[in-house]
Amino acid sequence: MTLKGKNILLCITGSIACYKSVDLYRELKREGANVKIIVSSSAAKFIAPYIFESFGEDVFTDDAFKSPLAHVSLSKYADLILIAPATFNTINKLAAGIADTLITLVVSASQDKLKVLVPAMNPNMFSNKILKENLKRLTEHNFYLISPGMGNMACGDFGEGRFPDTSDIMFELESVFKEKTLKGRRVLITAGATREYLDPVRFLSNASSGKMGISLANEAVKLGANVSLITLNIDVSCQYINKNIRIIRCKSFADLKDALLSEFKRCGILLMAAAVSDYSFKEKSLNKIKKGDLNLNVELVQNEDLLKALSEMKKEEQIIFGFAAETDSVIENGRKKLMEKSLDYIFINDVSKNVIGEDENEGFLINKEGEIKRFARQLKTELAGKLLAEILR
Ligand code: CTP
Repeated sequence: MTLKGKNILLCITGSIACYKSVDLYRELKREGANVKIIVSSSAAKFIAPYIFESFGEDVFTDDAFKSPLAHVSLSKYADLILIAPATFNTINKLAAGIADTLITLVVSASQDKLKVLVPAMNPNMFSNKILKENLKRLTEHNFYLISPGMGNMACGDFGEGRFPDTSDIMFELESVFKEKTLKGRRVLITAGATREYLDPVRFLSNASSGKMGISLANEAVKLGANVSLITLNIDVSCQYINKNIRIIRCKSFADLKDALLSEFKRCGILLMAAAVSDYSFKEKSLNKIKKGDLNLNVELVQNEDLLKALSEMKKEEQIIFGFAAETDSVIENGRKKLMEKSLDYIFINDVSKNVIGEDENEGFLINKEGEIKRFARQLKTELAGKLLAEILR
């Protein structure tokens, strides 16, 4: 959403990874960005500029040199200059202030513009000291660097230099446009639902996909926070989780309690989005119970309220943000939980509105002063940003 309406100048230089910039272009468009493209002469050997023209885009090549002011107008157009892939040659030229191609010329005329480099090259080239020094120099001059990934390269080598996944680049681009309002803050988030096992295959749990917690974690990273995410029984491969998020995997109430007790004291903000089981089985079997042997009157014991316990050990400057799942008397019940658990904020998920497991959510935010704010149905990814903004307000 941050990219909606933004003018992005996608500059493609000659790497074998060029073809991946077509996917990147499509994702930028899907997010609502306006895109103009420059394909360098060497990139044009890997991908035909015609690919982008056939999508109806303005494509510029080094031939545009023939139009003497193309670099100035392109530079004025751009809210962000994205050089992806950025080759060894282009990076070193930019650091030396050389402007002998349309892309390097545009950059030379764009001192005040956001500039992002996505290097892609062989690992030996990427570890080259001259390149490293030049990347450092460029970042000191406000170029934003998206680090390449590790993996198998087209040449057969293994190492750092791969063009990152489109989802990682998109994440970083959204991040570039955000003010780093959570810079230096440690944010701890829980997501998913605990499982209380009766035997190795049967468990008691709550409905929760973890999408809200994951969205909060991704958004907090974009705002510059140092984020730890306690995941509870979430298939993390099914949802995008930024690589800068430290993941702590837990299953049961007991695991969650241990993780929270060790992590809470170091965090500045706790966002407790997980659905925590209020009960555990009094007795657990190590072996699978045969169906004929199951005592149907299994005994439950009540788990303690973790938020309540954490609030009692909370330092003045720490913020505790709880979530509630309610179906009726939503505000009244939510307010009661805020007070009983001594929270700074509570977001009440109105689960009567089919939000569990969905990409969208709706509900009410109440702060400790008793102010109530309604959030209409919207993507959890968007809601996450708004909830974090409320904490910072
Ligand atoms: N929570 C907790 N410890 C528990 C149960 C819940 O810390 N044993 C936290 C949840 O993570 C959530 C908030 O408390 O942030 C509210 O959880 P919710 O399930 O809505 O309510 P409960 O407190 O369990 O009360 P009830 O089930 O009666 O609605």
